[in-house]
Amino acid sequence: MTISPATDHTEVERLRGHIATVLTRARARTTALTDAVDEADLVAQHSRLMSPLVWDLAHIGNQEELWLVRDVGGREPVRADIDELYDAFKHARANRPALPLLDPNQARDYVGVVRDKVWDVLDRSILRGSPLLDGGFAFGMIAQHEQQHDETMLATHQLRSGPAVLTAPAPPASGTPVGGEVLIPAGEFTMGTSTDPWALDNERPAHPVRLPAFVIDATPVTNEQYAAFIADGGYHRRDLWSERGWAHRTESELTAPQFWESDPAGNWWRRIFGVMTPLRPHQPVVHVCWFEAEAYAAWAGKRLPSEAEWEKAARFDPTTGVSRRYPWGDAEPEADTANLGQRHLEPADVGAYPKGASPAGVHQLIGDVWEWTSSGFEAYPGFRPFPYPEYSDVFFGGDYRVLRGGSFGTDPVACRGTFRNWDHPIRRQIFAGFRLARDPRPEEL
Ligand code: AVJ
Ligand code: FE
Repeated sequence: MTISPATDHTEVERLRGHIATVLTRARARTTALTDAVDEADLVAQHSRLMSPLVWDLAHIGNQEELWLVRDVGGREPVRADIDELYDAFKHARANRPALPLLDPNQARDYVGVVRDKVWDVLDRSILRGSPLLDGGFAFGMIAQHEQQHDETMLATHQLRSGPAVLTAPAPPASGTPVGGEVLIPAGEFTMGTSTDPWALDNERPAHPVRLPAFVIDATPVTNEQYAAFIADGGYHRRDLWSERGWAHRTESELTAPQFWESDPAGNWWRRIFGVMTPLRPHQPVVHVCWFEAEAYAAWAGKRLPSEAEWEKAARFDPTTGVSRRYPWGDAEPEADTANLGQRHLEPADVGAYPKGASPAGVHQLIGDVWEWTSSGFEAYPGFRPFPYPEYSDVFFGGDYRVLRGGSFGTDPVACRGTFRNWDHPIRRQIFAGFRLARDPRPEEL
């Protein structure tokens, strides 16, 4: 195909507009999350697992400076002296409050100065000619990076004590609750992508994976289902837990998902961004660690899906044999397909997004809650670190489990059917739940 100069020009303008939209949306969210609290709160550490919000803010600016101002733009550094402070590998999160960080107003000024330069770099870039520029990759990477830290800051907000400062409309309730299981027949599908322009290195390359038939739940496990596991003594039955899981449950005295509290009448409540509310029974459970998901699966007589099973259930279209970008097709997420982007401050009830289901009839794979899978975080065959090994490569083979699908706090730009997240199996502060899978019984095949 020959592209006429005029078409090509329009295409670059379209891409530039798209980049401006996602960068602006990310910054609006960053600003809202950091303006919601006072100065003392911005520099405080709300949990040893998290950075002070003011660290995330300046780190967002520093990554943007490194990649878009210096590397893509070829410009002079804005603040070369602070690179070390905002290098995530130089200081553990617990130690960040003690660093000589930019104060809130300095951090706000810094990200603003960097962004102004980025607008100029974007205006002048032809958005092709190198792997970093092709398809606007570096700009997409930085928009995703800011949104990833926005989700991290949202998790920090969930951990902070004190009155509520964030508000959002309640998520939709389900008209007709769905449940049940779906059989995914044996066969090959394409996992990962080589063509999605903003897919990050660990999602690449596309490669064939052959899976035996499996059965997967149509929806994530709900609060009501999880409460039944608790009521049945799930946290006290050694046989349901792996050795590591039991050791962790015992040492950390786990008795329920994080942020759950029971009242004297035995009803469960949970704290959502500073507000105590009764448990919504049909909402996916959130704030459980991988070991809790593993024990629940044993109790239910099932298992977690592998990462490949999750992706096949989410992307494989049996009529075409092609893997889609999202369960519902290749169209961008909309308000009626997925609960993404912090439009709501909690997951929606199961069945709330029938338009977002996959061809096989699996619901809410994208949005609502990150879903723990049984898989460790490993490189796909043919993986190449790009553009820096600290995004993925250094984490492969570590003590991590892969999570898929994004949560209510994940922006659409940072979420797609191929996107891979990972965390330690003991972590609960992320917006993670799970769904179950199992091997089919012979009569089901
Ligand atoms: C992909 C979400 C695990 O937040 O630790 C942010 C993303 N990498 N800055 C993280 C990331 C560098 C990363 N996760
Ligand atoms: Fe980062």
